[in-house]
Amino acid sequence: MTPPTTHTGLLQWVAEMTALCTPDAVQWCDGSQEEWNTLTDFLVKQGTFVRLNPEKRPNSFLARSKPSDVARVEDRTYICVKRPDEAGPTNNWADPVEMKTLLVEKFRGAMKGRTMYVIPFCMGPLDSPLAKIGVEISDSAYVVVNMRIMCHMGSHVLRRLEDEVRGVISKKRDGHGYFIPSAHTVGVPLSPGEVDSPWPCHDEKYICHFPDTREIWSYGSGYGGNSLLGKKCLALRIASNIAREHKWMAEHMLITGLHSPDGAVTYVAAAFPSACGKTNMAMLVPPPQYVEAGWKTSVVGDDIAWLWPHEDGKLHAINPETGFFGVAPGTSYDTNPIAMDSMTANSIFTNVALTDDGDVWWEGMTKEPPAHLIDWTGQDWTPGCGRVSSHANSRFTAPAAQCPTIDPNWQNPDGVPIDAIIFGGRRATTMPLVFQSFNWGHGVYLGATMGSEMTAAAAGTIGKVRRDPMAMLPFCGYNMGAYFAHWLEMRRYLKHLPRFFHVNWFRKSEDGKFLWPGFGDNMRVLEWIVRRCRGEAAGHETQIGWIPAFDDFNVEGLDGFTEKNFDACMAFDLKEWKTELVSQAEFFLDLYDHLPKELLFQRELLAARLV
Ligand code: OXD
Ligand code: MN
Repeated sequence: MTPPTTHTGLLQWVAEMTALCTPDAVQWCDGSQEEWNTLTDFLVKQGTFVRLNPEKRPNSFLARSKPSDVARVEDRTYICVKRPDEAGPTNNWADPVEMKTLLVEKFRGAMKGRTMYVIPFCMGPLDSPLAKIGVEISDSAYVVVNMRIMCHMGSHVLRRLEDEVRGVISKKRDGHGYFIPSAHTVGVPLSPGEVDSPWPCHDEKYICHFPDTREIWSYGSGYGGNSLLGKKCLALRIASNIAREHKWMAEHMLITGLHSPDGAVTYVAAAFPSACGKTNMAMLVPPPQYVEAGWKTSVVGDDIAWLWPHEDGKLHAINPETGFFGVAPGTSYDTNPIAMDSMTANSIFTNVALTDDGDVWWEGMTKEPPAHLIDWTGQDWTPGCGRVSSHANSRFTAPAAQCPTIDPNWQNPDGVPIDAIIFGGRRATTMPLVFQSFNWGHGVYLGATMGSEMTAAAAGTIGKVRRDPMAMLPFCGYNMGAYFAHWLEMRRYLKHLPRFFHVNWFRKSEDGKFLWPGFGDNMRVLEWIVRRCRGEAAGHETQIGWIPAFDDFNVEGLDGFTEKNFDACMAFDLKEWKTELVSQAEFFLDLYDHLPKELLFQRELLAARLV
């Protein structure tokens, strides 16, 4: 195939990678429907995909991975920079020269017997000043079809890159004609005549980032978080480095629009650690009273936000992705009808169960499980067989354009103006339903100290708070202390500051019951946030921040929810908060080297207020 580009830098890189990986063929991806059809047919033939019943879920597929390749591999994820302290104590560090030498050997001949796909992709609307073009080379057709859903991909991106080189289009920021080389291989070369496995992957995995040279090298895994390199690798780990240099922010945040009855839209960006209902919040369906009164919500993004100080003095945000790569179990028409409606066609499901009529099912999708399924490992499954049918981290890949509440501005290159930044975690105690920070510095402190109680099985850890600052612990591509300094610095470049809030949907009573109904009723908290941003709602100043009064909180239609219930959700206990302070101090000690003094002082101020 003649390479369909005049971009000499790209031609040279692809030639080098071809010589290194020695694939049998090189295919430049154009992102067309025809290409999708050919590749999905190929994946069905290979046994990687099962085509779902076209009457139930047209143009959709189920993939089952190897049981050893079901999630991101944080212990195999590296930030390769000259000095370990540049990566910081929360990242795995590797020397860039040593790691590159090792990777070159791993990639040598790794694509033998396979096709190397060249995937031009763009994170963010093409015309956005923040958009970043990358080119992924991969030997996985599964990666190509997922990338087509998750980002702008194909010939139009390549044309754009060429136009930038020729100076036809000049980018306002971050240079032009430049692409982020992103190399991926499953690491399983094939000998002539060798039959491929439906999910090739290597036992040894390396997910490596080179922030100084802006490169990504991913070896051994086919799982989306490790192989769709535009997402966590580029849009968070590499982009956080670019953002720091160019004074913008690459964050692990959803973006949602809250439409008031008067027609005004308040956009909020929110960060939650995993398993806190981030996708549900991005796609929140307000309670009936709200809908009747004229409230609605819209989705800009469910996972990543790139934010920058706009000429208008506000913080603007784009979603760099064009699809949702969501956790399937627990998603249902009760918990998230918008997500369910987004994946009715043209979607890919990974590690969920197959129904007898050729559709998908997972735990929580319906109250009654089907009488028989083929589970994610390919075995027969019946209710009560003692196994789950779908892996806990099974995923749907669905086009955001299919989301019924997609925001009209979701592809606006200028982004949407952000009025509130929300941090949250899963906390059974200590954290009230909602409170507002006193100012930007205090807001950054709330993000820096946020965390969730561990729910996983590891003995002795249940209930312990895992700090996950701004939900970026696995995704910040440099020293976390320096990242906090960057957050604090961003205040200087904004004229109209967004307000900061901390929320906790998961507070429990002493007898272990949730105090707050959550889901759509979270709209009540969001309404207070909207009204605070618009200067319409009162707040009470407390030691920990501003909180709503019961009279100023909309409980209409929330049957049986009294002032006593509200007080229980909103209470904060000085003893619990002192324990919280000790645990925050422990976390700060780990980051001490690069931690901005301002955060230490924020902690001191809080301690002083708590006496
Ligand atoms: C994700 C994650 O997949 O945060 O979005 O792990
Ligand atoms: Mn995420």
